[in-house]
Order: sequence, then C-alpha cells, then structure tokens
Amino acid sequence: MTTHLDTSSRTAETDRDVQPHSLATDLGEISMAKRSYGRVAIGLHWLLVLAVFYQLALGLWMIDLPKVPVGLRAGWFNWHKSIGLVIGLLMCLRLAWRVTHALQDDGLKMPRWQHLVSKLNHFCLYLTLLLMPLSGFLGSNFTPYPVKFFGWVLPRFLDPSPELKALCSLVHEFTSYTLIALIVLHLLGALWHGVKRDGVLSRMAIKS
Ligand code: HEM
Ligand code: HEM
Repeated sequence: MTTHLDTSSRTAETDRDVQPHSLATDLGEISMAKRSYGRVAIGLHWLLVLAVFYQLALGLWMIDLPKVPVGLRAGWFNWHKSIGLVIGLLMCLRLAWRVTHALQDDGLKMPRWQHLVSKLNHFCLYLTLLLMPLSGFLGSNFTPYPVKFFGWVLPRFLDPSPELKALCSLVHEFTSYTLIALIVLHLLGALWHGVKRDGVLSRMAIKS
C-alpha cells in the first residue's frame, strides 16, 4: 500500500505527464530535481519528524519547570538530553545514507529557483539538526553535572566553565528558533506542492 501525503491519487508518473512543458521551458527555468528517496531515507525522515517535534516542544516546556521538588527538572532535562542525542545519531545516520546513496531521477521537473530554495532549506535543516545536539551536548559538558544517556552516565571530557556553558546555551537557543523557522518554511513548501499536486509530496510518502 502506498500512502500519499497529498490528496491527489495521481502518481509522480502521471503528474509528470500533465506537467506543462511550455512556459517554464521557454524561460529556461526547468530544473531536473533528482529525487527518488528509498525506504530508509523515507523511514528516517518520518522518524525524525516525530522526534524533532517532540523534542522542540519538550525543550520549550521544560525550561520553565520549577527547581523544586528536587529531581523533577533534572529528570526531564536528562530525558531531553537522551532524546536529543538519539536525534544526533539518527541525523549522522541519515547524512551518511544520503551521501553514499545517489538519488535516482524521478522525472519531475520544477523551476530552477524552487529547486534551489528547497536545496537550501534542506541543507539548513541538516545543519541545524546537527548543531542542536552538538551545542546541547557541549553545553551540558561545561556544567558540573554529568550527561546521563537514559540513565547511563557518559564520561566527562570537558572542564566546567560557566562562560562556555552560557555560550553553548545561546547557540542552542538561537538555533532552536532558526530550526522552527526552517520547519515552517519546509511545511509551507510541502503545502504548496500539495495544493499544486505536482507529485513532490509523494516523494516522501511511506511505501510498503
Ligand atoms: C535536535 C535536538 C535538540 C532539539 C531540537 C533541542 C531543543 C531544545 C529547545 C527548544 C530548548 C529550549 C530553548 C532553549 O533555551 O535553548 C532546549 C533547551 C535545552 N536543551 Fe535541547 N535540544 C536538542 C538536543 C539537546 C541535547 C543533545 C542536549 C544535551 C545533551 C540538550 C540540552 C538542553 C539543555 C540543557 C537545555 C536547557 C537550556 C540550556 O541550558 O541551554 N538539548 N533544547
Ligand atoms: C520536523 C519536521 C521536518 C523536518 C526536520 C524535515 C526535514 C527534511 C529534510 C532534511 C529533507 C531533505 C531530504 C534529503 O534530500 O536528504 C526533507 C525532504 C522532504 N520533506 Fe521534510 N521534514 C519535516 C517535516 C515534513 C513534513 C511534515 C512533510 C509533509 C507534509 C515533509 C515533506 C517532505 C518532502 C515531500 C520532502 C522531499 C522534498 C524534495 O525532494 O524536493 N517534511 N525533509
């Protein structure tokens, strides 16, 4: 069964057939977007979507938690750190998969500017999703408290430093807002393609 995320029942193949080959071609704007994601890339995409939404909500919620009763705040912080490290590992896996697997040409055409904007958006998403775990992990290492990965104490490799911790926190916070803005842009793009029914959404549809 193929779950299409857009409401269209058309396939990329049929969408391609109805793609106008007129105006954009005449203006020389057509770009071949070589995108045909395999099951691993699609699975990792949706796993990360769930994890990132949860992690962002958790991060924004937990920072206002009271320091008493003792343990409540620390418990949620440790949970956030563990999920964040898993996201970091999944991102490394995804990146490794992406650079070692060439995408097949799925035949879809789109204006060059759209292709460039989406590439830039994806690149920045990768960057921020690597920077978030890195800044969080480094920042936590600059505190006197050890990082616990699902209860397992990770070895400390940096000396505590309030200044460097503050710097990492600033990067973590700024990057989280940048990430939210990038996701909004990404969702607007997805919506746009869904309305146009041009077959781009089907690229990330879960296939069984
Ligand atoms: C993709 C992964 C991550 C996302 C999306 C994320 C998101 C957030 C958000 C939205 C906040 C609240 C805003 C802020 O003050 O920064 C936050 C705070 C925080 N995060 Fe993360 N986080 C991630 C990974 C991590 C990791 C791996 C660690 C540590 C190992 C971590 C440690 C913290 C800490 C300690 C705070 C409290 C504020 C501070 O001390 O900087 N985060 N996170
Ligand atoms: C936390 C939210 C999300 C993040 C971080 C995210 C991240 C990404 C990244 C990094 C890519 C590029 C994949 C690559 O080329 O290696 C991508 C592609 C894609 N995403 Fe998302 N995504 C999110 C949510 C969504 C949602 C909710 C939808 C659909 C409603 C969606 C639909 C797509 C589609 C269709 C592509 C392929 C676009 C193309 O090939 O031109 N994404 N996403």
